[in-house]
Amino acid sequence: MDFIVQPGGAVNGTIRVPGDKSISHRSIMLGAIADGTTTVDGFLEGEDALATLNAFKAMGVAIDGPENGRVKIHGVGRDGLKAPAGDLYVGNSGTTIRLLSGLMAGQKFEVTMSGDESLNKRPMERVAAPLREMGATVDTGEGGRPPLRIKGGSALKAIHYDMPMASAQVKSCVLLAGLYSTGETSVSEPAPTRDHTERMLRGFGYPVMKRGNTISLIGGGRLQGVHIDVPADISSATFFMVAASIAPDSDIVLQHVGINPTRIGVINILRAMGGDIALDNKREVGGEPVADIRVRSAQLKGIEIPEDQVPLAIDEFPALFVAAACAEGKTVLRGAEELRVKESDRIQVMADGLQALGVKAEPTPDGIEIEGGGPSLNVMGGGEVQCHHDHRIAMSFAIAGLRASAPILIKGADNVATSFPNFVELAAQVGIKLGVRQ
Ligand code: S3P
Repeated sequence: MDFIVQPGGAVNGTIRVPGDKSISHRSIMLGAIADGTTTVDGFLEGEDALATLNAFKAMGVAIDGPENGRVKIHGVGRDGLKAPAGDLYVGNSGTTIRLLSGLMAGQKFEVTMSGDESLNKRPMERVAAPLREMGATVDTGEGGRPPLRIKGGSALKAIHYDMPMASAQVKSCVLLAGLYSTGETSVSEPAPTRDHTERMLRGFGYPVMKRGNTISLIGGGRLQGVHIDVPADISSATFFMVAASIAPDSDIVLQHVGINPTRIGVINILRAMGGDIALDNKREVGGEPVADIRVRSAQLKGIEIPEDQVPLAIDEFPALFVAAACAEGKTVLRGAEELRVKESDRIQVMADGLQALGVKAEPTPDGIEIEGGGPSLNVMGGGEVQCHHDHRIAMSFAIAGLRASAPILIKGADNVATSFPNFVELAAQVGIKLGVRQ
């Protein structure tokens, strides 16, 4: 599937983007191993979260829905999962494979997990290494990539793990294995990463401690089923935050968006670039802060992105690079080498696409330098860009059309449904001239 976006337009209206992907994954995982029933509202009915849901169904968990974002999970308790009949296929989802590997290490059975072309190229040694230290038997495919085979049946011992990279997936994997270990498992992170696992474990009645940059829990406890209200995903809202910022005469309200402090790098960075962003109606829903986000057009300026914002905006950079292309002056990103091992090499793929549209974008080993087109309306031309099976690349170039002089053909946009199944409809509703070609 390809996208074609016609040039120009303004972005206006009030919308609610789909549920948070990270929280949706975790709601199924923790709901499945809890005692009693867990109900979820606002669940993301995207392919990634459904991959997690189907994995747990395959392990004997009864799950009703999703229907209009509502899911009911009949928890089987901490030791109630059953061996799946075959391998677990988790599609495009890094979160499923990496978090599940921690949970699987604590089971009595063996599991093999693999994914699609994009996932099968991504590094898994980062979860295999700490799990082996805990006593699990974990085999990877060639070069530390999927398939990931986890033997199960080993007694796990608690460890302290000093994470070499700022990764919420690795942190969560170790903590989930820690639930099945004897003693206190702790993880230190080099910079704060999303803390949804910690918040949700506490919501299920499981104590999680935090001292400085070290998060820990004691194995052997039980989780109690709860109700979870999933806020709209700030990573999905990002496309419209950037769109409204860069398109003249725009004013958009994004309702009920999660603004967890470990996820708001995009707001901080856009504001530092001169973005006009207001957070209204701030409230807390099930342990996660939420707000309505209003964004109006602004002339952005290029900045040096503070490195401490990188983990807090890690999934938002493809869209932020489009914002940088529309800014006045140069934007420089450093310390973001993790972008090279996402659903695609997001530094190279975005640099290639922006260059194809005539933007001066120079990739560096750990970031990018982008020369913005400034106040001129058409900061880029039209042309053809490749997504490399990466949903966020496709959506980023869809909003780039707002400031292009000619149509952009976005090739291979098929994975958008992993995180944002109704993106095309919502984009059209607010004024983005986006079409689909099968
Ligand atoms: C996620 C963590 C991040 C992020 C991913 C979701 C999570 O990955 O990029 O989309 O839900 O824990 P890393 O842990 O690799 O940074």
